[in-house]
Amino acid sequence: MDTKLKKQLSEIVSESVKWDCPLGQFTSFQIGGPADAVVSVKSREELHKLIIFLGSNSLDWRVLGRGTNLLVMDSGYRGVAILLDGKFKSVEFFGEDHTLVHAGAGFGLSRLSSLCMERGLSGLEFAIGIPGTIGGAAVMNAGAWGRDLGGVLAEVEIMTQEGPRTYVRDDLDFSYRSTSGFECDAAVVSSVCLRLMKRDAQEIRRACKRYSELRNKQQPKGANAGSFFKNPGDDSAGRLIDASGLKGLSIGGAVVSEKHANFIINRGNAKASDVLRLMELIQNKVQKDSGVFLEPEVHILC
Ligand code: EPU
Repeated sequence: MDTKLKKQLSEIVSESVKWDCPLGQFTSFQIGGPADAVVSVKSREELHKLIIFLGSNSLDWRVLGRGTNLLVMDSGYRGVAILLDGKFKSVEFFGEDHTLVHAGAGFGLSRLSSLCMERGLSGLEFAIGIPGTIGGAAVMNAGAWGRDLGGVLAEVEIMTQEGPRTYVRDDLDFSYRSTSGFECDAAVVSSVCLRLMKRDAQEIRRACKRYSELRNKQQPKGANAGSFFKNPGDDSAGRLIDASGLKGLSIGGAVVSEKHANFIINRGNAKASDVLRLMELIQNKVQKDSGVFLEPEVHILC
């Protein structure tokens, strides 16, 4: 980015821009080279100006969220990484019985699930322990335990170069790990509205406890990006990788989890290239053994 563009970008956002900033610190994998710029936006006005600036200068950009489903290449990212802060981390309950929830896209999904649990609002129990943001969850229709965000999503607001635009549930199509019907490539999800149900708070608490226990029992901790591959059809990527005997396989600092084979763990010093080589090894072996090609769920940013 040239000096003139850098100056313009600095003037759009109130927080100072981080130039040439390593992205590992913003991802759950804790891997990744530097982005040209990392910007924090705190209001819809700032976000609108930023989207216009990026669009009119044909600059690549990407919202980081909590960097939970992301593998950033070692060579980094030639674009602008966006963090949603300030107003984008607010939440408001309204409507009859306060069953509608309006949340800024930067609000943590698991934290929102706990807040709803405390208020006796049902529908988001499945999300307890999912580490991303509600905005990211809306874009990829995050899910677990047979439920997904599409089940409770009432509205999505996106910020486009022309300003904010709202999509209601009927405008959207939800499928496995994908929401379509709104243009998330040229616009940023700025907020979502969920429609939940009043239910016995103890029952909700019990469901959340059960899901947390299952998650702790079945899924590993440590630096990872969640399920690495999408489940193919009705089968499970974890089962297929396990059946190929790949648990514990490692390249450099990246290792296939012993606890759940669809998780790749960064043991502390993994490079993105280690993860990619391990990914290809897994894909080749599973394809050879089971005839199934595993497609990554993790987004690769380069
Ligand atoms: N399995 C094995 N070996 C393993 C792991 C799993 O044999 O190493 C078997 C299990 O025994 C089970 C089957 O595979 O019979 C499915 O495993 P699991 O119940 O753990 O579910 P999953 O399909 O691997 C999915 C989601 C998770 C979500 C859980 C719970 C995908 C790719 N993953 O995992 O989502 O938390 O169900 O609902 O859809 C994520 O997307 O990041 C994520 C963690």
